[in-house]
Amino acid sequence: MHQDIEEILLSEEQLQEKIADLGKQITRDYAGDHLLLLGTLKGAVPFIADLARAIELPLELDYMAVASYGNSTQSSGIVRIIKDLEGPIDQKHVLIIEDIIDSGLTLHYLIDLLKRRNPLSLKVCSLLNKERLRIKDVPIDYYGFTIPDKFVVGYGLDYAQLYRNLPYIGILKPSVYSEEATPEKTHKSMAEQK
Ligand code: XMP
Ligand code: MG
Repeated sequence: MHQDIEEILLSEEQLQEKIADLGKQITRDYAGDHLLLLGTLKGAVPFIADLARAIELPLELDYMAVASYGNSTQSSGIVRIIKDLEGPIDQKHVLIIEDIIDSGLTLHYLIDLLKRRNPLSLKVCSLLNKERLRIKDVPIDYYGFTIPDKFVVGYGLDYAQLYRNLPYIGILKPSVYSEEATPEKTHKSMAEQK
């Protein structure tokens, strides 16, 4: 285990087992269709890479990078697009692939924006679903795990851009960040690219 990690919340085996199940479920649900997996950069990259290989359908991959402006305590829900999709989605079944849903603000904005482009269908698959009161209620059609309201890193998720390469999801040791800059505060205040 990495020296900065206090506890492994989800092991590599647990993640891979769940992703295999999600892949089977998505394969069944979209049988006969072409699917566009829309990954959100950067956090969802390991998840979309593993999930795509667990889905047995004609499949396209594309990515969006968004940054959400925020004050010191939470994201504002105003999202800036840093990288958009390559093409139109009006002839496509789109499945948004997220790493984690927290307040729901970012996803709410993204869904609003994509709906206006008239996809054939639009659904959401998030690896993690944080157990907390959402600021915006968002539909999550598929998710891997519900986790407690703690700041987690690994498997794509970062603290100050680090730890994305850990193969598991873990809780960071409090000693890694100072009192003035808890991960939540730092994360939310940086108008950071996910
Ligand atoms: P919302 O808008 O749902 O934002 O509040 C979700 C985004 O916030 C980030 N996030 C986290 N990143 N560990 C992280 O590394 C966490 O525990 C965490 N909680 C939220 C993430 O970028 C997600 O897409
Ligand atoms: Mg982040």
